Amino acid sequence: MNFLGIDLGTSSIKIIIMNTFGEVVGSVSKDLDISYPKINWAEQNPEEWWMATKEGIKELLASVSHEYKEISGIGLSGQMHGLVLLDKDYNVLRSAILWCDQRTQEECDYLNNIIGKEKLSAYTGNMALTGFTLPKALWVKKHEPVIFDKIAYMLLPKDYIRFKLTGEMATDASDASGTLMYDVKKRNWSREFIELLQIKEETLPKVYESWEVTGKVEKDVAEYTGLSESTVVVGGAGDQAAGAVGTGTVNSGILSVALGTSGVVFAASDKYEVDDKNRLHSFCHANGKWHQMGVMLSAASSLKWWVEDINENLDESAYDKLLEKASESTVGSNGIIFLPYLMGERTPHNDPNAKGVIYGLNITHKRGDITRAILEGVCYGLRDSLEILKSLSVPIEEVRVSGGGSKSPLWRQILSDIFNLKVKVINSKEGPAYGAAILAAVGCGLFGTVDEACKSLIKVTDTIEPIEDNVRKYNEIYPVFTELYPILKNSFDKLNGK
Ligand code: XUL
Repeated sequence: MNFLGIDLGTSSIKIIIMNTFGEVVGSVSKDLDISYPKINWAEQNPEEWWMATKEGIKELLASVSHEYKEISGIGLSGQMHGLVLLDKDYNVLRSAILWCDQRTQEECDYLNNIIGKEKLSAYTGNMALTGFTLPKALWVKKHEPVIFDKIAYMLLPKDYIRFKLTGEMATDASDASGTLMYDVKKRNWSREFIELLQIKEETLPKVYESWEVTGKVEKDVAEYTGLSESTVVVGGAGDQAAGAVGTGTVNSGILSVALGTSGVVFAASDKYEVDDKNRLHSFCHANGKWHQMGVMLSAASSLKWWVEDINENLDESAYDKLLEKASESTVGSNGIIFLPYLMGERTPHNDPNAKGVIYGLNITHKRGDITRAILEGVCYGLRDSLEILKSLSVPIEEVRVSGGGSKSPLWRQILSDIFNLKVKVINSKEGPAYGAAILAAVGCGLFGTVDEACKSLIKVTDTIEPIEDNVRKYNEIYPVFTELYPILKNSFDKLNGK
């Protein structure tokens, strides 16, 4: 049996083939464009996602040897929270508004202050954050009423791909959790809450568990791509839950840290838990259980911005060269601290107006110091979520790191030192796409449960130990990092004309 894992990321879509032994036998990646129509807005065209997906599948199946061409099941994973709107004839009504888009502060203020955080938390397990789906729908209602009236279906990004593959309108519990319309504890749409906001339940997709079969590939898609009409598509998961499956983060005690476009600290939990201050998201996990997580908006994207936009260096070795220079700087980057709020910030500040800051510059500083400060600043931001988890007494026995940024040994060491925890690297390097393929394998009966599949497929290949002297130095600098945002908050607001 072979399985396809499709991860619709923000900057690219990745498709892999996994065989019965859990080996990745082929992969393809297609870049995606993002448009930023205004500061802090971010949109993508769902039709481009589909074009990239079907071309990618076709290319991938053509490139692998005969024994891997027959695909039993497909698992989908993708950027969460994005709002995809279709009319009654299934036409896309407007560009998708993405997870990192920050235009919905007014809608969030209404939800959190007028409806009230307590009520929201009771209905959904979460408070309103600018990235979540519901505030985006309310924004469309207010600013684009003609479009709003035409909405027949509201989908999440990966579920648009499912619709194009199978014709089915469906999602899974982990991704539905990020809409703020889903009752995370009970695992169904929060009918009472949706009615309160005059959202029609029939516009929302049916929710499955991540391993459940949601449909089969349609004839025309099978003919175009080389898939078969008997290939099933399972529920799949939001990228964070799928990524956690891909690192085996399915039991309490394991913490997954993703250094992707966004930066995520993810704690699996056997039962539904909610932080009474809603600082962390409380979502359904892809194994039928739950998880809590903190999300920062610009993690590996901070480094990408620095290398590609500021240093204007696009050749492949640019990252290696800058990271080499960063490794020549010191612990603490010779006194520079970077606040990684390039797109505002979610956890812990929930502030779309927050800005990126390179603080502490002097005349002796070099490019390598700033590069290292960026790596450190992202890890301090992740530590903010770690500290919340610790304050909630969430058990933390080990950290498993994934995402593009985790390829850098320097970044992994900095993470271990700033967290003062052992950081483990696992055999799979494919992140959410691998988790999605595992979910397909469970759906096709190769494994009894998601946890069983993880136990059999995921192995730790390397462990990074914190270096005592570095831990001590970072423990001195971290409080300075945490002091900076509150000091600067007013200035950020002024820059935004508040
Ligand atoms: C999770 C989140 C991001 C996106 C994009 O809550 O917003 O991780 O899913 O990767």
